[in-house]
Amino acid sequence: MSRFLPEEFIEEVRGINEISDVISEYIHLEPKGKNLFGLCPFHSEKTPSFSVDPTRQIYHCFGCGQGGNVFTFIMGLEKLDFVDAVKFLADRKGIDLPSSPRWAGNEDFVERSQLLMDINREAALFYHDRLFSPEGEGALNYLRSRGLSKATIKAFGLGYAPDAWEVTKNFLTEKGFKEQDLADAGLTVDRNGRVYDRFRNRIIYPIIDHRDRVLGFGGRVMDDAIPKYMNSPESQVFKKNSILFGLNLAIKQRPIHSLIIVEGYMDVIALYQSGFYNAVASLGTALTANHAKLMRRYTPDIFIAYDGDTAGQAATVRSLDVLRGAGCNVKVIRFPNGMDPDDALRSQGTEYFSKLIQKAAPLIEFKLEHLLSEYDLDDQEQKVDYATKAANILLKVENPLERDVYIQRLNKITGFKPELLYRLITQIENRTKQQGLKRKIIGNNRHTMGIKHPSSKVSLSIKAEEDLLRLMMMGKKYATDILAMLEDLEFEDSTHVKVITIIRDLLAGGIEPNPASILNYIEDDQERSKVLDIFRLEIEYDNVDRYILDCIKELRRSQLERQGRDLKEQILRLNNAGSSDSDEYMELVEKLRATTLKTKLGRFGKEEVM
Ligand code: UTP
Ligand code: MN
Repeated sequence: MSRFLPEEFIEEVRGINEISDVISEYIHLEPKGKNLFGLCPFHSEKTPSFSVDPTRQIYHCFGCGQGGNVFTFIMGLEKLDFVDAVKFLADRKGIDLPSSPRWAGNEDFVERSQLLMDINREAALFYHDRLFSPEGEGALNYLRSRGLSKATIKAFGLGYAPDAWEVTKNFLTEKGFKEQDLADAGLTVDRNGRVYDRFRNRIIYPIIDHRDRVLGFGGRVMDDAIPKYMNSPESQVFKKNSILFGLNLAIKQRPIHSLIIVEGYMDVIALYQSGFYNAVASLGTALTANHAKLMRRYTPDIFIAYDGDTAGQAATVRSLDVLRGAGCNVKVIRFPNGMDPDDALRSQGTEYFSKLIQKAAPLIEFKLEHLLSEYDLDDQEQKVDYATKAANILLKVENPLERDVYIQRLNKITGFKPELLYRLITQIENRTKQQGLKRKIIGNNRHTMGIKHPSSKVSLSIKAEEDLLRLMMMGKKYATDILAMLEDLEFEDSTHVKVITIIRDLLAGGIEPNPASILNYIEDDQERSKVLDIFRLEIEYDNVDRYILDCIKELRRSQLERQGRDLKEQILRLNNAGSSDSDEYMELVEKLRATTLKTKLGRFGKEEVM
């Protein structure tokens, strides 16, 4: 989340946009208990499982698990990034964006980004213009030879960078831009003091983000020279791991049913020309969680259409996981013998491509197929391995009919009888169920047992951490007191560490920590739902102050225990290395004795260890 806005401002905007008011503008909410309920806008449902908690200023859907504060709600529904969501809500309440000199640093950054994008836009227009000038004739012919119409060329704003060293630079400096700014935008390169155009004699693909901003360029040679593509270098505005080529056009189509992720610029363009307006490509880089989240903002339904070669298939496996991690439903479009989408369209036509989309493999099918490519079924041992791995995949298929389809297929491929394959699956299932049960019992302890029943020690201290975080939401005074009491104690759970750091920062900025403002700083979806879970739960206690002390005591005990374990390990290591008579060894033993003593005091004594 890039944030160029001052924290006080963000908090002010959040404060005046009452969450249930804002959400009521989108969905109908009915009060039920302390909360309000409505139909979730993030997934389709018939009975309301979307809850808004006005006390904590957060929302949570019990159906799809989405949750957050007023900003994440607006980000999701209005398809905005964080900064724009803040601006949107500031606007809703008619407050002006900050312009005080105190925030000049941030303003500079925003202004500079704007300048770089202005330069890029001018450059894009220049390249586009050159494509249709006499010097662009060869380039235009090249694009025509690849089957592109003028309308397509215009839609993507394709261009031509002239075969010269300084024309782009001169054009832009004459427009009033400074040389240094051109360099920062990545349009020129500096070789030992000689500054010249980065893109020369190349087809230009402007890279435009989902908000129609020109962030950079890809430049392709028109022959077999290498490198085939040259791209703008990373800059303040050009971040390859979060830009998708073609997304600006894809999202102009409404409604957005699905997106197709492909490998190349040319694939996006060819698909677009054939009426598949929903293709996007990462910029020659592996698909990142950022990319996946960006797509997920518009639709959960994603087709992967990577090249039909081995590299493409390997990339498919990786991207599948990334996309599923972002909560997408993924299907895989497969191409025959090493074709890419562009080849397939050009050689086989639009209808053929539509069929490929219809026949796209659901996750399970693709996984089974991909698995198959890794085994040689003529080898008995490998065949058993394959079937076992396949059975593991089939566990996830819940519909028995669908499962049967795959079993039949597996039977055909391996020759193992369906009954056997079923039995294999049941066996694995039972085993995982047992493990799951064990986990559940431990998990339950954590939530139902009081702090005074140390049966599962690690869980207890984690629960103590959670409860302390909850207690800190009772107000500035509690938060400050608890922080002071923690002294040098550190939380064990990394998310808890993050939350407490945020709380500390908020307090330092004079802001009263509350669940909603904490969520502003948690970018990762999984982490956010973990944090939401912490704050959604109520805690029970008789006496707050006593309870805080109990929690802290538990943390101290657990820390001592961890230290003891570490010491024991070190001692053992020295022992095994035959260094049990070293000074270091004696020191460690002494430390361990002290630690154990403290732990005992902590358990049986009163406040001695605090
Ligand atoms: P491809 O080689 O599949 O490119 O590389 P393409 O877009 O299909 O191009 P054509 O059909 O040969 O014209 C896939 C993507 O990888 C990046 C580009 O983003 C390209 O679109 N790439 C490839 C580079 O950045 N540099 C390269 O040298 C090659
Ligand atoms: Mn290609």
